[in-house]
Amino acid sequence: MWGRESSSWLDKKEFAHTIIIMKRLGIITPGGDAPGINSAIGTIIRLSRNEKKNIIGINDGYRGLVDADFCEMKEISFNWLMGVSGTILHSERLDSFKEKKILKKASKNIKNKGIEGLIVIGGDGSFRGALDLANISGITIVSIPATIDNDIYGTEETIGFDTACNTALEAINRIKDTAVSFERIFVVEVMGRKRGFIALEVGIASGAEAILIPEVEPPLEEIAKGLKKARARGKTNAIIVVAEAVSNKREIAKFLKVKTGATVRESILGYIQRGGSPTRRSRMLAVEFASHAYEILKESPTRPKMVGLQSGEIVTIDLEQSVQGYKEIDIEKYKLHRKLSNIY
Ligand code: F6P
Repeated sequence: MWGRESSSWLDKKEFAHTIIIMKRLGIITPGGDAPGINSAIGTIIRLSRNEKKNIIGINDGYRGLVDADFCEMKEISFNWLMGVSGTILHSERLDSFKEKKILKKASKNIKNKGIEGLIVIGGDGSFRGALDLANISGITIVSIPATIDNDIYGTEETIGFDTACNTALEAINRIKDTAVSFERIFVVEVMGRKRGFIALEVGIASGAEAILIPEVEPPLEEIAKGLKKARARGKTNAIIVVAEAVSNKREIAKFLKVKTGATVRESILGYIQRGGSPTRRSRMLAVEFASHAYEILKESPTRPKMVGLQSGEIVTIDLEQSVQGYKEIDIEKYKLHRKLSNIY
């Protein structure tokens, strides 16, 4: 499905002809933070310490790499890291991290610090930067998909997605209470950057009446008709889950108000979806991705790699494949929701 490299990662051709025993590894978290990133960092620190390797942390993402803002990651409690959200390395988005001179500066700092391999934990923006860095510096890079948006090609799930969905679900349960009491329709906006993975998952799991995602033209007339009929049947409250990338959310709320005659309120869930102690699922994904990435890095692959989850297995694919790939949304899930909602 993903053009997975079956066992090619076992194919030594791709790896350094001479096995380089890496002693100094770097970790960087250059993108949006996601619950579980620290669980991955903790796993790599613990595994590398067991093998007497040095772990160099890069603070504040790619800006830290350009400014040589490094830290030795020694005595950090593994079990503390497992449950703490965000990233202890902090992060900062650096749009200029594609310019040659910036990349060259970063590459020089890596060499000066003696970093032999780099683990990049982040989303598609981080991965684009990692690919550019690998191409200009030749450094060995393995990437771990961590973003609440779950929009990374080559993996069924990213670190943080499960936790973000559970946080949004809990918030919607609370909104549902007041929607029932006031017989209102709520348009609830969830994150997801340009995609609808969070909205689709949370929409189904919350039993929402309708889901609006950027991948599908919103059937607003049908939804309005269905909500109006439902109100006539005595069902006077509704939750509409909408992905932040869907445009004109305010107009959608006004339209539903006019068409149904109901009071329509909007609620933007926002940054609560980026925080909160990671769920078991997000932590386990972090541990499995990180331990796999650590083993791959030690093999010094000649091309930058990404670890991922495919059909329940932890796999390795070329980072370039992931950066160039487009992850399709599961349209069957969307169709299933329409059957379940009986509104549209
Ligand atoms: O990528 C994670 C994410 O939270 C998206 O869901 C959201 O669109 C974006 O980051 C917000 O970006 P920023 O943190 O720069 O405000």
